[in-house]
Amino acid sequence: MMIGSIKEDLTLEKRISITPESAKNIIGLGLKVCVEKDYAVHLGIHDDEYKKIGVEIKNSSSDVFNSSRLITKVNCPSEEETSILKEGTILVGMLNPSKNKDRISAIIKKKIKPFSLELLPRITRAQSMDVLSSQSNLAGYRAVVDCVAQFEKAVPMMMTAAGTVPAAKVLVIGAGVAGLQAIATAKRLGAIVSATDVRAASKEQVESLGGKFLTVEQNEDMETAGGYAKEASDEYKKKQAEMMKEALKKNDIVICTALIPGKPAPRILTEDLVKLLKPGSIVYDLAAEQGGNSAFSEAGKINSIDGIKIIGVKSLMNSLPLTASSLYAKNLFSFIRNLYSREKKDFNINLEDEIIDKSLIKKV
Ligand code: NAI
Repeated sequence: MMIGSIKEDLTLEKRISITPESAKNIIGLGLKVCVEKDYAVHLGIHDDEYKKIGVEIKNSSSDVFNSSRLITKVNCPSEEETSILKEGTILVGMLNPSKNKDRISAIIKKKIKPFSLELLPRITRAQSMDVLSSQSNLAGYRAVVDCVAQFEKAVPMMMTAAGTVPAAKVLVIGAGVAGLQAIATAKRLGAIVSATDVRAASKEQVESLGGKFLTVEQNEDMETAGGYAKEASDEYKKKQAEMMKEALKKNDIVICTALIPGKPAPRILTEDLVKLLKPGSIVYDLAAEQGGNSAFSEAGKINSIDGIKIIGVKSLMNSLPLTASSLYAKNLFSFIRNLYSREKKDFNINLEDEIIDKSLIKKV
């Protein structure tokens, strides 16, 4: 049984979904692997590296599609790719169903089983497959590295013979996977870090990393049964804005990570709030592609307002595609291992398994 993968559109995506290491693991399950010619050359991984471990190299994407029972991708197949996907194939990737309704509906019509890994339940058994966590964790790290590169001051406190330089102050908005990694990375660099989140449970996590939690007093429970944030009420937003007024005056770098699944990103920093920051400060908006947590943020742009830089992040994983691919491919391998039955020597689409049921898109 063959697992295949084709090149992504390199103008948009540098990650790959099968690395030589993950191919070796897939072959270890008793499966075969093929990839399109020059599959990962842009990452410095040549076809020979795949061949050495028994991966077949195919001349075109249609050759890969025609030979494979299961296709792995990073992003949803393009219209053209969808048109040549073989009936009955299994497709696994980050298909982003809310954005790609037409293509996914065409895929389902072709009796292809589309699994979207962003839909995996956040349960312990699915942790090794959790693409949202693996990629968000890297995003949180990279956010701090990018901010430090843009910041025109030193981050740690420095006591020198010439005098003392105070440590930079970093505020993280949203303490999920990305936010927590941003806190940890900023702390490692010597910043003074504070963070806020609507979910009360995140306070302990922020504090365990050495961050100060900025609480917005509330009566309602802001967390869903699945562990995600609920949309904040107007009253909450008002109280949060009051808290932000004080916090923004003191901070040098603000990293925004707040998201609500399936909804536009909550707008937390209004124009007036952003302008409370000192000149030279940075707002780094990881939520820019989902509409942005901050005013003046545009995905893929750095805007400057009154000496404050507002960085709207776009396709961040393309700035560390090797690590992002390595983790993504490991997530995919774990998913394939769970889907494959060695006994039946076939994939077992068992909808009683919560992991399989939740990640399979049945309709759009
Ligand atoms: P996310 O990427 O959906 O959102 C980022 C953060 O923004 C969240 O912490 C959310 O509470 C916060 N947020 C949303 N609206 C906000 C607002 N108006 N103001 C301030 N903060 C706001 O979240 P992520 O990182 O995907 O984590 C979601 C949940 O999943 C968390 O509870 C996390 O602990 C849990 N999780 C569980 C895993 C497991 O295997 N059990 C693995 C990874 C995450």
